[in-house]
Amino acid sequence: MKLDGRVAMVTGAGSGIGRGIAECLSEEGAAVLINDVKQQAAYETQGLLLSRGASAAVMVSDISTPAGAAKAIEAAVREYGRLDILVNNAGRQGNKPMVDLDPREWDGILDVNLKGIYLCSKWAVPHLAKGGGVIVNISSVHATATIEGFTAYAASKAGILGFTRALALECAPMGIRVNAVSPGTIDTPLLQEFFDSFEDPRQARAEYLKFHPIGRFGTPRDIGKLVAFLASDDASFITGSEFISDGGMTACLFKK
Ligand SMILES: NC(=O)c1ccc[n+]([C@@H]2O[C@H](COP(=O)([O-])OP(=O)(O)OC[C@H]3O[C@@H](n4cnc5c(N)ncnc54)[C@H](O)[C@@H]3O)[C@@H](O)[C@H]2O)c1
Repeated sequence: MKLDGRVAMVTGAGSGIGRGIAECLSEEGAAVLINDVKQQAAYETQGLLLSRGASAAVMVSDISTPAGAAKAIEAAVREYGRLDILVNNAGRQGNKPMVDLDPREWDGILDVNLKGIYLCSKWAVPHLAKGGGVIVNISSVHATATIEGFTAYAASKAGILGFTRALALECAPMGIRVNAVSPGTIDTPLLQEFFDSFEDPRQARAEYLKFHPIGRFGTPRDIGKLVAFLASDDASFITGSEFISDGGMTACLFKK
């Protein structure tokens, strides 16, 4: 297996894409520290991994705070004695016109989506440097092309790409690779929350599907497999890059 003997920490691994990433990393042999701010969700992911014979532990903490981020990194090192892979996945949305967005709502989105990545990376790098580690940051296609109501989300996801490139340069001499994955439409509770903001969520879902040349939305495991590849030695020449996984959505300029 590609990640035998490696230790990974995945933020927001109690749900959706984070859970899919935790599954795929553990299937490649990694021990996984599951972080989430929601306790029950985190333990559900742990139960799933343990039931498949994987090694998994939990740290419930809010990675948007310095203490919460430090707790998650320290838990992985305490539990498994090392850290090889950090996946910064935890994220929030917010669908509101900019003029109606309260400054606290702006901070709430930026603190989780962008500052949390900085905080977890800050505490992780000294550990990752010991063994040629890997960081994978979960951005979004919204970093490049977005929709109305997503100013804070799009800004946070575009920020992740800049952060990824700059950190990749700083970390290359330490043997740490840093990359970003930009998912398109992935069927998770966060996506349902977005569709639920429409008058007719079922119709919104059907309309969105039309913009996916591949004919389906993505699954958390589609992203998990890409992250597992980037975390493995098969990707040893890849750093500072963005990988889009969106079923062709952003390749489509115009629907005939
Ligand atoms: N679903 C999509 O279509 C899609 C597309 C592009 C990018 N993304 C990104 O993928 C990531 C995961 O999204 P998802 O769709 O799986 O969402 P989700 O809501 O299903 O899962 C996100 C998880 O993060 C956790 N979380 C939120 N804030 C946290 C915090 N401060 N500390 C620790 N955990 C926290 C939540 O409790 C939740 O379990 C996010 O960064 C999101 O922006 C999702």
